[in-house]
Amino acid sequence: MAPMGIEQDFVDGHPRSASLYARASRVLPSGVTHDSRFMRPFPVYIDHAAGAHKWDVDGRQYIDYVVGHGALLLGQNHPVVTEAASAQLLKGTHYGGSHEREIEWAEEVVRIVPSAEVVRFTSSGTEATLMALRLARAFTGKPGIIKFHRHFHGWHDYVAANSKYGDHSPPGIPESTLDTVAILPLDLGMVGATVEERGDIGAVIIESAGASSGQLPVPRGFLQALQAFCNERGIVFIMDEVVTGFRWAPGGVQEAERVTPDLTTLAKILAGGFPGGAVAGRADIMQGLAFLDPGAKGQKIGHPGTFNANPLSAAAGIACLREIADGSHQQRAAALAGQLRAGLNGVLCRRGIHGVIYGQSSAFRVLIGGPTVPEESDYDARDLDWDVLAAGGAPERDRLLQLALLNRGVQLFGTGGMLSSVHTEDDIAASVQAFDGAVCALRDEGAL
Ligand SMILES: Cc1ncc(COP(=O)(O)O)c(C=O)c1O
Repeated sequence: MAPMGIEQDFVDGHPRSASLYARASRVLPSGVTHDSRFMRPFPVYIDHAAGAHKWDVDGRQYIDYVVGHGALLLGQNHPVVTEAASAQLLKGTHYGGSHEREIEWAEEVVRIVPSAEVVRFTSSGTEATLMALRLARAFTGKPGIIKFHRHFHGWHDYVAANSKYGDHSPPGIPESTLDTVAILPLDLGMVGATVEERGDIGAVIIESAGASSGQLPVPRGFLQALQAFCNERGIVFIMDEVVTGFRWAPGGVQEAERVTPDLTTLAKILAGGFPGGAVAGRADIMQGLAFLDPGAKGQKIGHPGTFNANPLSAAAGIACLREIADGSHQQRAAALAGQLRAGLNGVLCRRGIHGVIYGQSSAFRVLIGGPTVPEESDYDARDLDWDVLAAGGAPERDRLLQLALLNRGVQLFGTGGMLSSVHTEDDIAASVQAFDGAVCALRDEGAL
């Protein structure tokens, strides 16, 4: 029989996912509930998961490199987290009132995140960055914000422009809102000139390891220089550690790089795989949320939120943070990621394919095309040419690679992914083998 091609293999191998997608498309725009889950011809539908693996509705098994969009440093259903959440489930999921778990959860954040003096919980990372910017604007009295090219901080109006979904401004955001945000390259000279010129900059926000979870890295020394610059001028320095927090080190990039932001935004690992986010940082800035004494002048920042510090998320979050506090899970995940990056680069070398697999900590990106790696080795994003990385791969080739890997039991998160501490060396070996098969399939199809 003639080879069927990557996409046809995928369609033939996933009939139940195909039919669920047809059903989904009738009630969900483009059939999905998160932009990054959209995939042509259709996404796979997951039935259940355990550890580092997932099974779809067609009974196919995957090594999971999505890890809950980065939330699952401990993998799926880690017993410590599951037990804590199960116990809480039986005690009630929403008290509509204060509870001890929220205090314990905040205490863990303050203990682990170096710059955290006080904490305010939100339901997501998007809400956390929105609140951090509002706190900064209220504290400084200045509405202007600096964000960086391609840095992603969620989908609210102030940060949606020029984020990972492209260099454009998405529709639906008023010009007056966009005017408050200066979008700059990682260039301290330009940051300085913009601050001088505008005179209204109250906050700088940065994805701590670089755009798209470190895929476009922050040059060494930049965070420290940016912190010093902001401190000198009374600008609130916000590190977005939604992905890097609790992953790069227990205390995030700020611990690893010894940087002290004024505010930090957190989510993902924070809540152990349940919904949740937080702003943490300087008590004087966070004081903007505090109720005023009777008779005092001024106004507080309002912050309701039905699911703020939800007991279920809090219980899972406390269990997770206690488990990951000593740094061993981060080290294991990062070591495995290094092995994976080196192994995948070995495939490119042996097959003579242009490209590089690189990353920091327990994250990786597969970039086919562009640079060629000279040997089977691991590459830190900061040692590669930023412009080449920013130019990226070819979308259609990347799509085929994703399909070819799914056909072989590996699920990437876009063009890369992250690891958990429960991935194994067998998972790495199987992923390298699947990658080898996938790139050969792409070559056979003329896509390489
Ligand atoms: C760096 C960063 N900030 C903020 C967010 C938004 O978080 P959430 O998806 O919880 O709204 C994300 C999500 O991936 C992120 O990667």
